[in-house]
Amino acid sequence: MQKLRHAVVGVKGVGRSHLRAIRQVPDAELVAVCDLDREAVEGVARELSVRPFTDYGALLASGGIDAVSLCVPHGLHAPMTLEALDAGLHVLVEKPIANTVAEADRVVEKARARRLTVATGHQYRTFKSARTMKKLIADGEIGTITRVLWTWLELRPESYYARDAWRCTWKGAGGGVLMNQTSHDLDLICWLVGDPVEVSGMIGNWGHEAEIEDFVCATVRFANDALGSLQLSTLTPRGLSLRQISGDRGTIDVRDVKSLASDADDEIRLGRHSPPVRSCIQNAGAITAQAETRWETVPTAPGEGGQVTFMRDFVSAVRDGHDPMVPPEEARRVVELINAVVLSSFTRRTVRLPVDREEYEALFRKLCDGETQTPRYR
Ligand SMILES: NC(=O)c1ccc[n+]([C@@H]2O[C@H](COP(=O)([O-])OP(=O)(O)OC[C@H]3O[C@@H](n4cnc5c(N)ncnc54)[C@H](O)[C@@H]3O)[C@@H](O)[C@H]2O)c1
Repeated sequence: MQKLRHAVVGVKGVGRSHLRAIRQVPDAELVAVCDLDREAVEGVARELSVRPFTDYGALLASGGIDAVSLCVPHGLHAPMTLEALDAGLHVLVEKPIANTVAEADRVVEKARARRLTVATGHQYRTFKSARTMKKLIADGEIGTITRVLWTWLELRPESYYARDAWRCTWKGAGGGVLMNQTSHDLDLICWLVGDPVEVSGMIGNWGHEAEIEDFVCATVRFANDALGSLQLSTLTPRGLSLRQISGDRGTIDVRDVKSLASDADDEIRLGRHSPPVRSCIQNAGAITAQAETRWETVPTAPGEGGQVTFMRDFVSAVRDGHDPMVPPEEARRVVELINAVVLSSFTRRTVRLPVDREEYEALFRKLCDGETQTPRYR
């Protein structure tokens, strides 16, 4: 069978890891690269003996390509994905799938109508920490999920934002810590717990020049009525991030999360509640009776995760006609959750999903035009 002929668009940042991954998947072949930066793209093309393009339209029209990886600023994700789908190509688009849920709707609709694969780069699902948590939940170790406490905390100095202007703007990035750093975590939370149905949140900018948010607190109710508290920040030193998912039978607890950006080893603890919380509530005689919690450290799931695993999944989804690990509807769910937090923050109300597309588009336009600004708390 012919290999999947793949092109990478955007070669200076994360595009490099797509270039490496494609070359490690036997069923895929890198055939072209595209970037606005002529010197960079020609250098990569020479090194890898593939065709260079500085114009995306010319790449799509060139023929001999089955799929593109889009490793470009967020604001280009949906428009470039739609163009690729119109050209009959499969797409691996970096996260997020779009800046707004209305744009994500258009991508989902077109991908399904044309029967083309769109995968979104939420590759953290392949990390051993994430897989371990998923298995504990699927095996019923914590029972019915009732509560989630999830923080993502790291520091991003001003130099991080100064390097790429697009990251600092609503138009370029669709948001800050939510869209850029933690869309991966929001995907994990939804993958582990389920669909969010109701959201209230506050976003703000405490410490950076950028126009987007650097701190978020949000409360989420999920379809199974579990409640979640999220704190996400690029203002806090590493080492304090915490994940806790509780059910009536047990709790998963991860302190000082290491897998915030790579497939690093985390210590994952499982606490088993005995008796299960619900039966303790109903049957315990003493009015302050507690369920006992016995803790153990869980061995993490075997195997490595990361970009190569994710690329292999994308290629097999295209070739075998199954959904990729992150189908476009699930990538849209992340954008919808983010849009809901932002909408809640600006309207000071709880937002029920589905998000009102027109209302969010109107707010987003104002944020992009500078008519509405991220609250500054300093
Ligand atoms: N999955 C992950 O773990 C991960 C990690 C880092 C970044 N990302 C995502 O990857 C994307 C890119 O981020 P980055 O850090 O690599 O950004 P970057 O700014 O370093 O790179 C973007 C590249 O796109 C090129 N580009 C911009 N406009 C273009 C156009 N119209 N046509 C062709 N090329 C164009 C730029 O020249 C640059 O080479 C973002 O969506 C980001 O969120 C994902």
